[in-house]
Amino acid sequence: MKVESLNVETLRWRNNQLELIDQRRLPLEFEYVACEDAAQTAAAIRDMVVRGAPAIGCAAAYGVAVEAQRHAGAPRAQFDTALQQAFKVLEASRPTAVNLFWAIARMRQRHAQTRNDSTQASAAAMLELARQIHSDDIEICRAIGRHGAALIADGARIMTHCNAGALATAGHGTALGVIRSARDAGKRISVIANETRPYLQGARLTAWEMVQEEIPVTLVTDNIAGHLMQQGRVDVIVVGADRIAANGDTANKIGTYTVAVLAERHRIPFYVAAPLSTIDVAIADGRAIPIEERDPSEVTGFRGLRWAPDGVSVFNPAFDVTPATLITGLITEKGVITRPDAGKIRMLFEN
Ligand code: MRU
Repeated sequence: MKVESLNVETLRWRNNQLELIDQRRLPLEFEYVACEDAAQTAAAIRDMVVRGAPAIGCAAAYGVAVEAQRHAGAPRAQFDTALQQAFKVLEASRPTAVNLFWAIARMRQRHAQTRNDSTQASAAAMLELARQIHSDDIEICRAIGRHGAALIADGARIMTHCNAGALATAGHGTALGVIRSARDAGKRISVIANETRPYLQGARLTAWEMVQEEIPVTLVTDNIAGHLMQQGRVDVIVVGADRIAANGDTANKIGTYTVAVLAERHRIPFYVAAPLSTIDVAIADGRAIPIEERDPSEVTGFRGLRWAPDGVSVFNPAFDVTPATLITGLITEKGVITRPDAGKIRMLFEN
């Protein structure tokens, strides 16, 4: 399935509702689904219609906005109750990506700031903020891309894990933003996409994005990563993040930690690309990051095909934590910090 360009919008606001590319169907089908209220938006986040930390944050903000639009004109008490329910249902959708909670906190604040306005004005202000979070995210990814591209050598073979691309953000991507920006800067790069078991974001989404843009990409199973590094066929690794603790410990897609350990063993630079909204300064280190466990059916089969025996027990955490000590650099919209630690991360928020 080929689309015209990756100027496709992961999320868009149409006819007073949120539309999302249905990422569950990629790369075989390309279609948008509409979310008409907060509950539908929360279900879309939980069911992986939209996924990737920054994209989840944008979707949650629009999920609040869509609910506010639905109740614009209602009495203030009714409007406020609907909004409180929207915050709750969206916060319960997925636990790990902190961008979700960051975006909802901003929407809560805007709700509180407009408490004395008409409900129409309040709803308009919330839609405006959701649009702002959305457009800011694209700018932020472009800045991450610019800073990260400077780290990529001409000819580099770049490994990535999961999908931290345009589909995981409002556009451009974080890890794939670095790759896109390096390509745009004229560097002849190639990408190694780990398939990312069990949900196959690498095979289905990263490979799709790269093929769309004709960036050379090789798809490998996750267990080939070490073999490739041992053979000297990986120059640099760039991944995204779902939540970064105050000391730089980073939760990202399950398997990222394995890749980071292998990178250290083979002395390959390992970069995390993420916006400041992914940093949770309230969490001291990675041990306190909540790790989502997903349905066993994601491991026992795929799209209706089952390969594991009935009755087997399954452990399916969606994320793992890479200690900051394994991270060569953190690429943010404010620049790159090498060997991130609590002090350097604190400074990111001070300047
Ligand atoms: O379960 P997912 O697909 O939401 O997990 C996504 C990831 O782990 C990404 O690497 C992360 O959100 C960064 S996206 C820019």
